[in-house]
This record gives sequence, structure tokens and C-alpha cells, in this order.
Amino acid sequence: MSESGPDDDVPIVVPAPVAPGAATYPSDLERDVAISRGDEVHLRPIRPTDGVGLVEFHRGLSDRSVYRRFFFVHPTLSTPEVEHFTHVDYTDRLALVAEDDGRIVAVGRYERSPGTTEAEVAFVVTDGYQGRGIATVLLAQLAEAASARGITEFTAQTLAENHAMLAVFRGSGFPVTTVMEYDTVNVRFPIGPGFTTGADLL
Ligand SMILES: CC(C)(COP(=O)(O)OP(=O)(O)OC[C@H]1O[C@@H](n2cnc3c(N)ncnc32)[C@H](O)[C@@H]1OP(=O)(O)O)[C@@H](O)C(=O)NCCC(=O)NCCS
Repeated sequence: MSESGPDDDVPIVVPAPVAPGAATYPSDLERDVAISRGDEVHLRPIRPTDGVGLVEFHRGLSDRSVYRRFFFVHPTLSTPEVEHFTHVDYTDRLALVAEDDGRIVAVGRYERSPGTTEAEVAFVVTDGYQGRGIATVLLAQLAEAASARGITEFTAQTLAENHAMLAVFRGSGFPVTTVMEYDTVNVRFPIGPGFTTGADLL
């Protein structure tokens, strides 16, 4: 018979306090991925502490890249934008950043339309890293994460002249449909385990 009480040696684990509504960081979405020229970047979900890095990233984009992402001239992110972009719930709103040497070089995000199973996606890759497969792999990863969170369809709006973005969607392996509206193209496609993508993960 034990001389100590039944629970004396059992450590009491006190869970860390969680702020109401705080989202759990999905570290399972972190991974290293191959890009062209034998390099790799680190993908991870965005964090609330990424504000400074995101502002730096945005500041380093060319006017053309900013215009293609936002559809207007927008050299500096506002404080509310930084807050909005870095504080996501990882379910209905999720952003993945690609880092090289700890520096953000790309961001891909989706945002669910309230009350639906569809989400809008958007990407931006810093100019020096464009054309190396980063958006392709971000799309594949976002689709996998979104599908696991109950999203069945992605939508996007892109300028008709944005051949790079359209090439990413059309080359994704998803059954993409496009509808032209003035100078923009509305893109839509189902996502899910039934569809394969060409992204080359390590
Ligand atoms: C559009 C954008 C996100 C694409 O990202 P990326 O990492 O360069 O894309 P990828 O390297 O994965 O390229 C995918 C395909 O596009 C092709 N591509 C790249 N640049 C291209 C260009 N200027 N014209 C035509 N095709 C191009 C690539 O050859 C590749 O095709 P492949 O797989 O057959 O070789 C990036 O160019 C960007 O950030 N642009 C500015 C912001 C923007 O346009 N955002 C879109 C808003 S929805």
C-alpha cells in the first residue's frame, strides 16, 4: 500500500489562459517547400506578431505588384489593414507566408464568404521571387487547409492582364472556370481531396 495519497505524485497541469476568441495557431501547416533553382522557402501560417515583417514586405513590392494585388496604388499598409491581415482565425480566414532567411517573401490568403462554403483567395509574391513556383505551392497548401476546414470552392478576382496569376490558377490542376467582366476576370473552382495539384512539396 502506498504511503502517499493517491494523487500526491500526479503533477497538476494548469492550462495556459486562452483569451476569449483566441485562435489556435495551426503549426501543422508549417513546412519547407521547394522552389525553382534548387532553393526552398519556409511556409507557415501568419501570426499576430508579423506586423512589422508584413509592412516591410509590402514596402518592398513594386508599384505594379501592389496594383495587381489591390487594384489601386497603395504604397503603405494602414494600421487597420496590418491588424486585419495578421489577425486571422485560421479557419474562416487563413494566411500563409513564405519566408526566406526569416524574411517574408510571399503571402497567400483565403477568406470565407460568411455563411457559405466558398472563400476568396489572393496572393502576392515579392518581385524578386516571382516566377519560381511560390504562388503555385501556396495555392495548393491553402486549398488543402481550406478543404480540411469545410471550404469547398475558391474564388478570385484578377486583372485580365495578370497572366501570371491566371497561369497559376489554370496550372493548378483544379477545374478552373473564368468569367470576364470589363478588365477583370472572376475565377472559380472547386477544391478538395478529389483534385490533385502539381505543387512539388518536399
Ligand atoms: C501573380 C503572382 C502571385 C504569381 O506568383 P508566382 O510565385 O510568381 O507564380 P509561380 O511562380 O507559381 O508561376 C506559376 C506560373 O505562372 C507563370 N508565370 C510567371 N510569371 C508569368 C508572367 N509574367 N506571364 C505569364 N506567366 C507567368 C510561370 O511560368 C508558371 O507557369 P508554369 O508552372 O507553367 O511554369 C505574382 O506574380 C505576384 O505576386 N504578382 C503581383 C500580385 C498579384 O498579381 N496578385 C494577384 C492578385 S489575385
